[in-house]
Amino acid sequence: MNTHRFGKASRAAALALLLCGAVSAAGLAQGAGTGRSGERTQGAGAASPRSHRRALVRFPPIVKRATLATMRRHLQGLAEIQQAMAAGDLETAARIATMKLGMSSMHGGQARQEARFMPPAMRALGMRLHRQAGAFALAAQDAAATGDVRKAQVVLGQMMQTCVACHAAYRLN
Ligand code: HEC
Repeated sequence: MNTHRFGKASRAAALALLLCGAVSAAGLAQGAGTGRSGERTQGAGAASPRSHRRALVRFPPIVKRATLATMRRHLQGLAEIQQAMAAGDLETAARIATMKLGMSSMHGGQARQEARFMPPAMRALGMRLHRQAGAFALAAQDAAATGDVRKAQVVLGQMMQTCVACHAAYRLN
């Protein structure tokens, strides 16, 4: 994956498509249309390669604040996962992924609020992130048993690509 290219919208589109194996093309196309707020969104595809423009997604201020706090917790989670893996503590890496990035890291009400305001393709990336965190936790637990960390590292990289793909495609007002 060419993470260094993610600033370019068309590359982001390609990246998002590559990353969205589980997401139907129809879902993505829908995401490139008009967001629920009525704001014209570009999804991950419409902008010219040079525009560097990301689709604007409108969240109410209180939802935005909560979302950004969750984002910072996600980044902290990644840092802690890397540290735990470097220390060879796969069990801890698995636990952090589950707590800070997995499905249960999203407190029901907040996640529902956020999802309401997201274009479908953005929502799909969010779901994908949480699924990948679950897959990473399983791979890390396996690695703790077998001593082979490669699968866990691959899944961790894929999960980070989902962070990159969403940031390349969307911004909040
Ligand atoms: C579903 C889309 C999506 C996913 C997936 C996603 N983010 Fe974000 N993130 C955003 C948006 C949108 C913003 C706001 C960006 C803007 O307005 O410029 C943001 C902002 C952030 C910020 C800035 C927080 C602040 O206080 O300003 C951090 C840090 C961050 N994300 C980390 C992560 C990490 C780490 C991951 C992956 C583990 C991740 N994000 C996954 C959409 C996403």
